[in-house]
Amino acid sequence: MEIKPKNPDSEFVAEVNGVDLTRPLSDDEFATIDASFKRYAVLVFPGQPLTDEQQLAFSKRFGALETAPNYAGKKLRLRNEFTDISNLDHQGRVLDPSDRLTKYNLGNQLWHTDSSFKATRSKCSLLSAREVPPSGGETQYADMRAAYDALPEERKRELDGLVAEHSIATSRKKSGFSEFNENIATQLPPVPQRLVDHYPDSGRSSLYLASHASHIIGWPVEKGRALLEELMEFATQERFVYTHDWAVGDLVVWDNRCTMHRGRPYDLAQRRVLHRTTVSDTETPFDRPTVVRA
Ligand code: OGA
Ligand code: MN
Repeated sequence: MEIKPKNPDSEFVAEVNGVDLTRPLSDDEFATIDASFKRYAVLVFPGQPLTDEQQLAFSKRFGALETAPNYAGKKLRLRNEFTDISNLDHQGRVLDPSDRLTKYNLGNQLWHTDSSFKATRSKCSLLSAREVPPSGGETQYADMRAAYDALPEERKRELDGLVAEHSIATSRKKSGFSEFNENIATQLPPVPQRLVDHYPDSGRSSLYLASHASHIIGWPVEKGRALLEELMEFATQERFVYTHDWAVGDLVVWDNRCTMHRGRPYDLAQRRVLHRTTVSDTETPFDRPTVVRA
C-alpha cells in the first residue's frame, strides 16, 4: 500500500493506492489504513469501483453505521444505511430543480460536518463516486485542527468549555428548506456539542463547527451566532481547504470530528451520483451527549 500526502503542503489529506477495497481486507491492511486515517483526516482512494455491498463491508471496519432518517419525507432511492448524495429521484431519474428533495439536498453546499445534529455524532463518512458531472460538483474539505492551531492563544482560551447547539433545522433554514417530514423535530431535537474537542490520543485539538450550529448555549443568541459565523469564516480560509475533483470510482473517507466539508454547485440537469455511508462516533473519550455545565 502506498500512502502519500495529496499535495506537498496538505497536512490533512492523503491519497492511498495499492489496495483493493472491493475485497475483504486483512487486519494488517486495515490497521495501516486506520493509522493514516488518524494521522490525516481525509483519505482519497482512487480507482475503487465499489458496489453498495462492498462499500458497506469496508465502512463497517471503521465502526457501527448510522442509518439515515427520511428528512425530506420523500421516497428514497437507497436503503437506509446510505445517504444519497445525488440529484436522482427514487427511480433513478434526474430530479426537477424545484423538487423538495433537490431543495433539501442543496443544504449540503453549506460548510458542515455530518450528523453534528445527532446526540451520537459521526466518526467518519465514506463517499463513493458512481457518476460525476462533466464540470463542477467538487467536494471541499476544511482542516479544523489546523484552524484551531492557527487561532490566537487568547481566542483559544475564550473558546474552551463553550458548547454550541446543533440541529438539522438550523442548516436547512439557512438553505431555504422548511418542509420537513413532520416527525423530524421529535426524532432529532437540537443537541449540545463542544466547540473545541481535545483528543488525548493524538495530542491535538479541533474546532467543531457546522452549518447545523445555531448559537452558544448560555449566551445571548445573536452574540453566539456572530461568534460561530466568525469562526466558520476563519476555519474555511483557502489555506485550510482541500478541493476534491471527483472521478468515477473515487472513494473518500473523512473524519467528521475534525473537518468540515461542502459540495460545490454544478449543472443540476447533469447526473451526479455518490453514495455515502456514515460511521457513528462511539469512541470519543468523554460522555456524549455533551454535558452542559451550569
Ligand atoms: C456528504 C456531502 C456534499 C457534496 O457527502 O456528506 O455533504 O455534494 N456532500 O459533495
Ligand atoms: Mn455532508
